[in-house]
Amino acid sequence: MAEDLHITSGSKEEQYQSLLPQVQGLLTGEADLTANLANVAAALKEQFGWLWVGFYLVKINEQGSEELVLGPFQGPVACTRIRFGKGVCGSAWKEANTLIVPDVEQFPGHIACSSLSKSEVVVPLLKDGEVIGVLDVDSDKLNDFDEVDVKFLTQLCTWLVSLH
Ligand code: SME
Repeated sequence: MAEDLHITSGSKEEQYQSLLPQVQGLLTGEADLTANLANVAAALKEQFGWLWVGFYLVKINEQGSEELVLGPFQGPVACTRIRFGKGVCGSAWKEANTLIVPDVEQFPGHIACSSLSKSEVVVPLLKDGEVIGVLDVDSDKLNDFDEVDVKFLTQLCTWLVSLH
């Protein structure tokens, strides 16, 4: 396994095209979900320098209800639990769909884990059509995410889920 990522400059598309095969190399042959989520979060953070990159996973709480629970991430400390339909993450879970939020202050019910966060993208992790978690990325810049991010982050999440 390569110990270091090769970090590229260039367009966002070029950065993803360089990063994704490296991430695949890093994860292939490793079946542990936590280890793989941790390395994906670290690789995305290292390449793109976003404020926060991480995962929330659907788990059953003590009351027997499902909620999103904080998983591996890189960035400032974050809220631990998010209920179905709440915030951007809970909404992406409910809709089983990716959400791009160009300005978090304009998103009703946005959960502000860091006051530095300005824009956000959340991609659901889908297994057999069910949401098992989400990838959440926060930027300290407004309007930092677009369809290029959605395309590559979705590819990455689909592939990641297929490993487990
Ligand atoms: N902003 C998210 C909460 C998670 S943090 O950004 C890490 C939301 O509204 O669901």
